[in-house]
Amino acid sequence: MCGKPSENKTVNPTSIICNDRVGTVTCSDRDELLRAPLFHTPRNPFLQDRALEYHGDGGLLIREGKVAACGDFETIRATNTSATVIDMRGGYLLPGLIDTHIHFSQVRVLGGLGRSLLDWLEECALPEEARMADESHARRIAQVFVHELASHGTTTALVFGAHFAAATAALFEAGAESGLRIVSGMVMSDRQLRPELHQTPDRAYRDSTGLIRCFHRRGRLLYAVTPRFAPSTSEAMLEVCRTLRQEHEGLRFQTHLNENPREIAEVRKLFPWASDYLAVYERFGLGGRGAVMAHNVHPTASEIERLAAAGTTVSHCPCSNAALGSGLFALKRHVEAGVRVALGTDVGGGIGFGILKEALQAYLLQRVAPDGALLDAAKMLYLATRAGAEALGLGEEIGDFQPGKSADVVYVKPPLNSPLSAVLERTETPEQTLAAIFTLAGAASIQEVRVEGSIVYKLRSGN
Ligand code: GUN
Ligand code: ZN
Repeated sequence: MCGKPSENKTVNPTSIICNDRVGTVTCSDRDELLRAPLFHTPRNPFLQDRALEYHGDGGLLIREGKVAACGDFETIRATNTSATVIDMRGGYLLPGLIDTHIHFSQVRVLGGLGRSLLDWLEECALPEEARMADESHARRIAQVFVHELASHGTTTALVFGAHFAAATAALFEAGAESGLRIVSGMVMSDRQLRPELHQTPDRAYRDSTGLIRCFHRRGRLLYAVTPRFAPSTSEAMLEVCRTLRQEHEGLRFQTHLNENPREIAEVRKLFPWASDYLAVYERFGLGGRGAVMAHNVHPTASEIERLAAAGTTVSHCPCSNAALGSGLFALKRHVEAGVRVALGTDVGGGIGFGILKEALQAYLLQRVAPDGALLDAAKMLYLATRAGAEALGLGEEIGDFQPGKSADVVYVKPPLNSPLSAVLERTETPEQTLAAIFTLAGAASIQEVRVEGSIVYKLRSGN
């Protein structure tokens, strides 16, 4: 899987094309009433009982891209007789899935098993990421990337872009065309990686500013300031991150934190003044609401407390944590301390684009973790949807089917004669049905995906 970098055709990273089509939004002008069993978590099941809402004969009324009503089909139908009814019985409606940690530049290193973080970066991820200097390569991968998100039911993703502005622009453009909500930014680094991936702080500032002006808040796109991780960013680069956040309203922030013991030792060496890893980011004001830090597998008690107090979200990436041998995530400690936690696939350290699978892996690893949290289907759904919306400061807009929110919808329909269809014949409770979906529904079960009511993906060989 991993190998030598190929020869790159370098493009001028400032040659970003601001495409006027970016952010075009279309939606049906007639109300649509989707009819199918539906699940969502309008409340937080880690804090409240009965957080899972289920309607066996469900109705989801969509008006101008928004949820106008969610509940029992007949009740909604009775007061909305002019809506077009779409009979989707035989499948299930879930809110659009939300991935809070994924790398655009790493699609082609999926499956590079057998290494731990720093060796994997050096031998697998970074050589591949260097190829993103070639804009045509970046455009091709961007198409694959957004297609894979949609085909796995992900409607919103917080994405590490590339170390190159033009490649990051290619991702934003593909994201805009796809209709998905893409929150992303150019990856910033000025040391410790490989020379092709380094920018000077000054260059990173100029390129990031250009991308922010071009893409932030255009249609469904948002910009996230994205220093790769503390070992690859000097203090001057972290200062640039702070400046960007001060200069532009509403930027999100993403980075990595406490993933691997060798990485943490490196941070201690490079930032001898910092009391711990998190303190490096804190020194530059890099945390709080709208900030997502991936992994945090090896936190101190103090870091957990400070993450909770700041409102920073930890993106839990259980498949990656297992694949790279990073360790078992202390979910219970985070939740009990009040840290916000959402899910990330961490492609390509992880194993693929499926957030449903990620929720299942979170469940599995918590089963074997010492003092693990026992996840149920409601908690898995919350982590896969609403928790991600809250992480991104989009909790008022997406994450569940409450009226007024955007109609971001995944239609899960098991293939004929599949294990999932067989299991669903005999499930007796909503929780059992949802647990079966998390366990057995892969991309072959994602029949249709909508963002703001508009179809952005339909399974071709559907049944
Ligand atoms: N830390 C810094 N870069 C990376 C990356 O690409 N993947 C993961 N899992 N951790 C990182
Ligand atoms: Zn990552």
